[in-house]
Amino acid sequence: MRRWSATCRVRTFQQRQNVTTATTSSSTHRVSRQFHSSGNVSRTITTQTTHSPAPRHRCYSVLATQTKTQPSEQTVSSSPRDSTSNRPRADPYKLVAPELKTLRETLLNLLGSSHPSLTEIAQYYFLHPSKQIRPLLVLLFSQATNGLGRGWPAKKWAAECEGARGRSQELDSTLTRPDVLNDWNPNMPDHTASFSATFSLRNPRSSLEPPIPPLWVSDPSTPTLVPVSTLLPTQIRLAQIVEMIHVASLLHDDVIDNSPLRRGAPSAPAAFGNKLSVLAGDFLLGRASAALSRLGESEVVELIASVIANLVEGEILQLKAVHGEELGLDKEHTQGVGKENWNIYLQKSYMKTASLMAKGARAAVVLSGCKEGELWKEIAYAYGRNIGLAFQLVDDILDYEAAESTLGKPGGADLQLGLATGPALFAWEEHPEMGPLIERKFKEPGDVELARDLVRRSSGVERTRQVAQEYADKAKEVLGPLPDSDAKQALEVLAERVVKRKW
Ligand code: FPP
Ligand code: MG
Repeated sequence: MRRWSATCRVRTFQQRQNVTTATTSSSTHRVSRQFHSSGNVSRTITTQTTHSPAPRHRCYSVLATQTKTQPSEQTVSSSPRDSTSNRPRADPYKLVAPELKTLRETLLNLLGSSHPSLTEIAQYYFLHPSKQIRPLLVLLFSQATNGLGRGWPAKKWAAECEGARGRSQELDSTLTRPDVLNDWNPNMPDHTASFSATFSLRNPRSSLEPPIPPLWVSDPSTPTLVPVSTLLPTQIRLAQIVEMIHVASLLHDDVIDNSPLRRGAPSAPAAFGNKLSVLAGDFLLGRASAALSRLGESEVVELIASVIANLVEGEILQLKAVHGEELGLDKEHTQGVGKENWNIYLQKSYMKTASLMAKGARAAVVLSGCKEGELWKEIAYAYGRNIGLAFQLVDDILDYEAAESTLGKPGGADLQLGLATGPALFAWEEHPEMGPLIERKFKEPGDVELARDLVRRSSGVERTRQVAQEYADKAKEVLGPLPDSDAKQALEVLAERVVKRKW
């Protein structure tokens, strides 16, 4: 690990010699430029069990009052072709591949700061390949619902009309005058105030009256999907924001878990140290919050802010289970193989993983103009919540099954961290010896190996996969009321793939 870390630092140092990164700072992020020592300016992106599971979990449906529009039980087909048209089914990643690529590249522009090393750490995880499942959900739900909500004409108008604050360029401009917002950035002499003198009162910016939206006569009985290419700039920015929040949580998580690897490379703490990693995570949250405010939709701000709180609550729930006493956190009573252990496990999985998927997808639909009382955002939330739990359950299986080379992070990490996830909880039902190991957090020599063996000799992995399958099936089912589209098909395919994934 030391060797990787050293290599990383050397490269970093060399980069610093040649390049000073300047950007339009905290919020403006119009262009990220690199001033080379040559004087040139460029933008570079380097970058089965015999047991049926006890009713411990309940997949999330759209609200009861709205279920009359849901289809009856659907079966999951693994066929790559659509059963009615016999055409190949839409591939989730291919459907929005150009948008995913662009949003990943332009995301780096949001992260420039007056401290090149901070910029570098904040950008670090974005330079390595990832599944991008959170932005994928935002983009697919945008495509699957744009045009359906009562507020769609207004959202579309704002995206096209100068001054209505929905166009891409407007999402890049600050709401507050730049010299106040950016405070100090030596690379931006025009937009920064020096601290060497007292600050004088400045004239207010001239205010531009926003254009008056036209009156729309909408017919809610005939919602029509718009062409695939109509993704709103606000939705693309939301996709970037959810990825930024996810990466911020990983920066903090790798410090907490003391993890050496992430995405097949040294983790940020291994490469840059704990302090800078925590600060880079905080910085990402700051930039994500500024970008969020410019989407002009308080409901979305509320949803995403609650995700940040959920991520922290999920992490605390996990810490409590393992280190409750040392940290002075109350410990839940979790003695015996019980419903309570499963509840805590699923609650933690929702908070840490599914919440961002569910609320991110819901926020995309809010940005499409879906109003209260319309079904579309309920579908997005129910889908995201179910697929998020399926995703986490499979992640917990992979921790037992997959090799480090496939995962890009150490396998077997959960037991090492003292965590009993789905496979271990199920194994406990079949092998009571697992109980004391879980109770002492696999701390004694040989505990981890013994626990792995008990899981192997049990049906824990298959039963966990079965629960994941139930969540994935439910995710697919709740899509029922959406009109047919490539995006809907891609969401169905994604629900099937989540359970089969190997990394
Ligand atoms: C990965 O978990 C971590 C998360 C999904 C979220 C962690 C959340 C925090 C650390 C709270 C702070 C949040 C913010 C937004 C700064 P894992 O350890 O189970 O997975 P891994 O194997 O990928 O590390
Ligand atoms: Mg971790």
